[in-house]
Amino acid sequence: MQKKGFLVTFEGGEGCGKSTQSQLFCQFLKQKNINYYMAREPGGTNFAEYIRMLVKDVTFEEKSPLSELLLFEAARADVVDKIVKPMLENGAVMVLDRFYDSTLAYQGYGRQMDKEMVKLLNKVATEGIEPNLTFYLKISPEESFKRKTKDKLDLIELSGEDFHKRVEFGFDCIAKENKNRYVIIDATQDRDTMQKQIREIFMERYNAFQSK
Ligand SMILES: Nc1ncnc2c1ncn2[C@@H]1O[C@H](COP(=O)(O)OP(=O)(O)OP(=O)(O)O)[C@@H](O)[C@H]1O
Ligand SMILES: [Mg+2]
Repeated sequence: MQKKGFLVTFEGGEGCGKSTQSQLFCQFLKQKNINYYMAREPGGTNFAEYIRMLVKDVTFEEKSPLSELLLFEAARADVVDKIVKPMLENGAVMVLDRFYDSTLAYQGYGRQMDKEMVKLLNKVATEGIEPNLTFYLKISPEESFKRKTKDKLDLIELSGEDFHKRVEFGFDCIAKENKNRYVIIDATQDRDTMQKQIREIFMERYNAFQSK
């Protein structure tokens, strides 16, 4: 039988719980003896982690939005080529803490760049790979920023209230346009309740996918 990889992504605004939930989810995959690999975006390879540092660095606040967008896509191209693609070809469950929906939400909706251009660049950088399942951890920026320490905010987090409202609206639109793969999790709930929902939904979708 041909091996089939399964790509799960965690999306949402700042501090919604993506890293917390994706890590708890990987513990579950480990317990279940499911072959998995996890990476965060931007990041996941040495080169992409270096780009992550650059895009978050407040020293470079003045860079053009297009150069920021291309940096995100450059990081993505590397992690897709070196990790995501090989893992999926190997039949693993690949878990990503953010993926290309974040670029459409942040650069397309947040920075108000041409959405069709962002979608095209996303397609190029991902070589057309799409998630099988996306968990959108939904919480308003007002609520999630209460969880953050203000003196440690990075460049993206410091982009202003209106920007983060547009990002939230962006994720809402993307969720509506991708109903098949999108599952919205109420991220105002406690972390165990969220994780329970995530695990249940994953098992349903993963079993259905495997028996196809
Ligand atoms: N369900 C929850 N309820 C309350 N606080 C939470 C919950 N989940 C995570 N937190 C806390 O909120 C903060 C942000 O969580 P986390 O880092 O997982 O979010 P994130 O989406 O990965 O953030 P970022 O966008 O910065 O990567 C952390 O301090 C974390 O401990
Ligand atoms: Mg995180």
